[in-house]
Amino acid sequence: MADMLVLGIESSCDETGLALYDTGRGLLAHAVHSQVDLHEAYGGVVPELASRDHIRRIVPLLRKVLAVAGTSLETVGAIAYTAGPGLAGALLVGAGFAESLALALKVPALPVHHLEGHLLSPLLSADPPRFPFVALLVSGGHTQLMRVAGVGQYELLGETLDDAAGEAFDKTAKLLGLGYPGGPQLARLAETGQTGRFPLPRPMLHSGDLNFSFSGLKTAVLTQVRNRPPDDSDKADLCAEFQAAIVEVLSAKALAALKATGLKQLVVAGGVGANEALRAGLDAGTQAAGARVFYPELELCTDNGAMIAFAGAQRLTFGSAANQAGSFSVRPRWALGEA
Ligand code: KG4
Ligand code: ZN
Repeated sequence: MADMLVLGIESSCDETGLALYDTGRGLLAHAVHSQVDLHEAYGGVVPELASRDHIRRIVPLLRKVLAVAGTSLETVGAIAYTAGPGLAGALLVGAGFAESLALALKVPALPVHHLEGHLLSPLLSADPPRFPFVALLVSGGHTQLMRVAGVGQYELLGETLDDAAGEAFDKTAKLLGLGYPGGPQLARLAETGQTGRFPLPRPMLHSGDLNFSFSGLKTAVLTQVRNRPPDDSDKADLCAEFQAAIVEVLSAKALAALKATGLKQLVVAGGVGANEALRAGLDAGTQAAGARVFYPELELCTDNGAMIAFAGAQRLTFGSAANQAGSFSVRPRWALGEA
């Protein structure tokens, strides 16, 4: 296949991300607008505000990536966009824009599964993993372990039975009165705290399978807070213990997945993959097991257009069908296995 320039568009939640990925030259440009400031006052993402803001940002971001790549729309050979899972209205903005632009440019539009984007994002780094590998997907909505044999070949090994790790971070941060988004704030406070003062459970650490459960951990923090309102130093210690619990469980299960599959490469993807303590835990664990861990570039851990452009490009390379012109839909709920 001749080299092709793929435009990627991500709008599934509270980040508008656009990127240009060239199948020959690699990632040429990517730009993200985060809606953190917009939703902060509400303590969480307000779907209707998210949709409206995607509409405002998408064209300026497109101009920006074209300028950075030093090219024009006419050179775009395909347009990949996040078709799900995510917020319906937010997805529709990206999908509608991508499909119409593709129709106007007479190029294929490629609906991409958001998690597949995350999953493949470490392949964008300078020193990428090779198939097959185990992937630990830790985002705001998902916590999954997968065996990845190739593009489109994903076997679910285990997943959370309730809250995702990122969700647990966000909810726990909220109940401690930390700002939104909670994950990074809780992680920052955890660095100043000490473990060992507040006992918290390590849910399902010894369950013997590769599943997770994090809602009990959040409830355990809530119980501590109700028993005795924490002062600032208590809060830091609670954060440290909470983070340690999450890191311990995620690391243990990721290592167990390597052992179960006999694989020696672990790929970490999704927003929680930006967590420094998790990285330290996984670095140490994989090293001790004679395995290697791969992370996406830090700025590609959270939602972005580059991973969508890349996943779309892979789909093109591996011959998956593009959408019928003029017809498309989004899938707010969508299991990766069905992709
Ligand atoms: O992958 P992502 O950007 O969006 C989804 O697809 O969900 O992940 C967002 C999640 C949020 O729950 C956020 O709090 C969490 O990732 N997160 C973190 C950190 N950075 C982002 N959690 C813990 N520590 C961090 N440094
Ligand atoms: Zn995501």
